[in-house]
Order: sequence, then C-alpha cells, then structure tokens
Amino acid sequence: MNITILGGGGFLGRKLANRLAKDGTLGGTRVSSLVLFDLTAPPAPEGAAFPVTSIGGDLAELPDGVIPPGTSVVFHLAAVVSAQAEADYDLGRRVNVRGTDAVIDACRKLASPPRVVFTSSIASYGGGQNVVLNDSTKQIPGGSYGAQKAAAELFLSDASRRGFMEVVSLRLPTIIVRPGRPNKAASSFFSSIIREPLLGLQTDLPVGDDFKVWVASPRRAVEWLLHAATMDTSGMGLDRSLNPPGMSVNIGQMLAALETVRQGAGTLINRISDPALMKLVSTWPAQFDTARASGLGFSAHEPLLDVVRAFVEDDLAPTKAERGIA
Ligand SMILES: NC(=O)c1ccc[n+]([C@@H]2O[C@H](COP(=O)([O-])OP(=O)(O)OC[C@H]3O[C@@H](n4cnc5c(N)ncnc54)[C@H](O)[C@@H]3O)[C@@H](O)[C@H]2O)c1
Repeated sequence: MNITILGGGGFLGRKLANRLAKDGTLGGTRVSSLVLFDLTAPPAPEGAAFPVTSIGGDLAELPDGVIPPGTSVVFHLAAVVSAQAEADYDLGRRVNVRGTDAVIDACRKLASPPRVVFTSSIASYGGGQNVVLNDSTKQIPGGSYGAQKAAAELFLSDASRRGFMEVVSLRLPTIIVRPGRPNKAASSFFSSIIREPLLGLQTDLPVGDDFKVWVASPRRAVEWLLHAATMDTSGMGLDRSLNPPGMSVNIGQMLAALETVRQGAGTLINRISDPALMKLVSTWPAQFDTARASGLGFSAHEPLLDVVRAFVEDDLAPTKAERGIA
C-alpha cells in the first residue's frame, strides 16, 4: 500500500507518520511506501521498514511525485489553521481552497481512485456553547477557516461522487494536548493551559471555567484517521463527512485534570481578556451527537485525565528538548 501524507510535517501528520512506521501496516495491509509533503521536506519517521520520500513545496502548486501513480491512500492534513486563516484571508483561501482543489487534480490522474482522508473541523459549524449538534446540522461557520473547510468538504465529496477518489472527511474536534510551542490556531490556548504549566511556564487563559469545548486527544485522532483510511464506506452514500466521537469538557474540568497530574500547576495560569479571540471561539460548538460516526466504527474517547497523562508520557520530554527547557 502506497500512502501520502499532505501536511506530513505538522502536528498530526508527524504523529500519523510515526504510527505508520511503528505498525508497518495499515488496516492489515503492509505499507510499501510513504510520501511526506509539507512546506519544507518533513523528517522521515524513525524505524520505518518501508521507503519514505520527503518533499517540500506549496500545496496549491502540488509538485509531481507527491501523489505518485499507485497511491492508494492520501491523508490530506495540510492547512492554514484558524486564527491565521482569519488574519490572512488570501493565504487561507490559497491553501485551504485552491490547495485542496490541486489535490483533486492530482488524484484524477491516478489509474484507480485513492482513499482520501480529509481533516475538516468543527470550526465549519456555528452554534456556540449551548447547542448539541447532530449529523444533519447545517454548517454555518463563524470564520473564514471554517468556511474554507466546509467548502473543501463539498467539492471533495463531489470529486468522490465522480469517481476521482473515495473521500472520508472528518470534522475533527480541537486536539489537546498539542506538543511543542503555541501555534496560530485560535484554539491554541486549550492546549497551552495544560502544556505550559507542565513545562513550568506561565500561560494566558482568555475564557472562564465554565467555557465548554469539544476535544479529542492526538492518540484518538490518529486512531480515527487510520480507521477512515480503511473502513468500509459503502453505507456512507453521498454524505462523505463525519463528526467523530470527541468529548465535551469545560475549562474547570481541564484545570482539575492538570492539578491531579501536577499539584500546584494551575498557579501558572493568568486569566486575561481577549475579546477578538473570544468572539471567534465562542461560535464553535461544544457538544455533538455522533451517532453516525459511532455506527461506522469510530472509537469512543478515553477520559480527560488519560489525555493529560498521555501528553506527559508521549510528548513532555520531546517538547522540553525542542524548546531547550531543562
Ligand atoms: N489540531 C487541531 O486541533 C485540529 C482541529 C480540527 C481540524 N484540524 C485539521 O487537522 C489538520 C492537521 O492539523 P495540525 O494540528 O496537525 O496542523 P499543523 O498546522 O500542525 O499542520 C498543518 C501543516 O500544513 C502545512 N501547510 C500549510 N500550508 C501549506 C502549503 N501551502 N503547502 C504545504 N503544506 C502546507 C503546515 O506547514 C503544517 O505543517 C489540519 O487540516 C487542521 O485544519 C486540526
């Protein structure tokens, strides 16, 4: 099985590449090659028993060889994320819309249609704090990133109907705890309030304790991506997008989990006011009924405490090393 990861140098792309290298298989089939693509050529995962080709470039002008003949699975994770897409309209449109269009053109050239797993987002919905969304809720995004993701879902789904690919779009929850440094996503602080105190660093919190958020762990997100790549899609019909079973938590519960894992860590959190950011994140829904994805075999979420402990186990030491923290 030949696989491509677009956005293979990003947070989830690297986790996914490492997992494929560790397993050596996808859905029980041996991985024969992996192409990693990002703005700069991503590092190959350690210990892969298959050849890895790393390519740097711009998604909107997808270089030859990124989705080579014989590709059977494409993970399309490359994106300009929320706050950056809101701040730079042209860049967001170029990458999230035209870049996705370039993926369709590359897939059309293949002799047989690949499975494409696309990472959409709950930011493609509006609704805010006090609604429970279900599988037939209309997407009314409150920002350009969400609009671009919703648009991409639609034209990927049409490409799928036409037989150019077989797409599964996952509207991912906010993934916590993100390792490394704070990033340009508006959701960055949801990870920072766990990660930074565990690093012994101060961090800002722009919402109150009762603010709810729909989250998933990196481990769970990778499981879902792998499942989406190999699941039987015959029952999906024309609706190619899914809300996987994340977890609704509030800030108070996150801080309590942090405190359980590291007593006193919460004292490093500074409560601040950021009206612009608050306006954007307040449009994101915090609770879903995920019956369809659960029925299609997407695994349920582990408890919040396990998510914080998994960050300590998987990512705390590499994050310290990356940021030069003793
Ligand atoms: N992490 C989350 O909380 C979350 C939530 C919902 C959806 N998603 C989606 O999941 C995917 C992966 O998220 P992530 O957290 O790993 O993001 P990330 O920002 O770490 O990774 C995205 C990658 O895309 C690359 N990229 C940007 N512009 C590009 C271009 N023009 N050409 C090639 N590559 C380009 C970036 O360099 C980056 O490495 C994204 O599509 C994101 O929108 C993430």
